[in-house]
Amino acid sequence: MNIAVVLVLFSVLAATQASQDQSVCGVIRVESWSYKYAEKTVQDALYVLNMTVVDQQSEAACTLGESFGYQKATLWVDHGCRADFNVCYLPVRPTECQVLRVESWNYKYAEKKVAGAALFIDMTVEDRQSAASCDLDKSFGFYNQNSTVWVDHGCRADFNICYVKGATSTTTVNVSSWNYKYATKILPSASCIYFMQVAKQQSAAPCTLGITYGFVANTMWVSDGCRADFSVSYYSP
Ligand SMILES: *[C@@H]1O[C@H](CO)[C@@H](O)[C@H](O)[C@H]1NC(C)=O
Ligand SMILES: *[C@@H]1O[C@H](CO)[C@@H](O)[C@H](O)[C@H]1NC(C)=O
Ligand SMILES: *[C@@H]1O[C@H](CO)[C@@H](O)[C@H](O)[C@H]1NC(C)=O
Repeated sequence: MNIAVVLVLFSVLAATQASQDQSVCGVIRVESWSYKYAEKTVQDALYVLNMTVVDQQSEAACTLGESFGYQKATLWVDHGCRADFNVCYLPVRPTECQVLRVESWNYKYAEKKVAGAALFIDMTVEDRQSAASCDLDKSFGFYNQNSTVWVDHGCRADFNICYVKGATSTTTVNVSSWNYKYATKILPSASCIYFMQVAKQQSAAPCTLGITYGFVANTMWVSDGCRADFSVSYYSP
């Protein structure tokens, strides 16, 4: 794999405010009954990246490092902590690759859907057929929003395309910072958001990505009076 291309692709992902890595997230319940230590191994995980409380069921506190935590692919709870946790992890087989021919005839834009691709991580030219050059982001590229790869300006080639398997969805969600307070909304399913933009703003206060709105894992947040319908894209393993 060409490191330079991978870095370029990662920066492309960063530019679209994607979670830049190949992690997947899910909600997992882990319970310490009778105040005893308990653990659960995350299926398919190489190692866990982080773990946050989504829905605490116990009266006993859930405190990271004290009554819950993780090591490699294993989650643990202790001292009576029982909760649903949002867990992001690197999967054992993070990616699947396939060679796909995509062709721009008559120098026209063309695209192709890659079934089952949740998040593209690498797209390289395997075998170019056109005289026209194939340059990432200029004459070929991909959209994570709809699992689509594209070519343009006469680029025709077999591409080696690698991606995280899963399903992507886009939905519209209303999130409001009333009285200029910080507020959050959690997507119901076990999912990881990689794209969020304003669909329809309701507030006079500005909605600026990273400043007055944003997302972490499966949670959207707003602050400083930003109220809007947001278009949110996320993937589910
Ligand atoms: C995929 O999304 C891109 C960017 O929003 C859009 O230009 C393109 O037409 C979409 N393609 C399909 C097949 O939905
Ligand atoms: C979001 O909330 C605003 C104000 O409460 C409302 O005007 C708007 O229609 C809502 N949008 C949706 C999609 O529910
Ligand atoms: C958890 O890790 C994922 C993947 O690295 C990242 O996108 C997310 O922001 C992290 N969440 C928290 C709460 O640190």
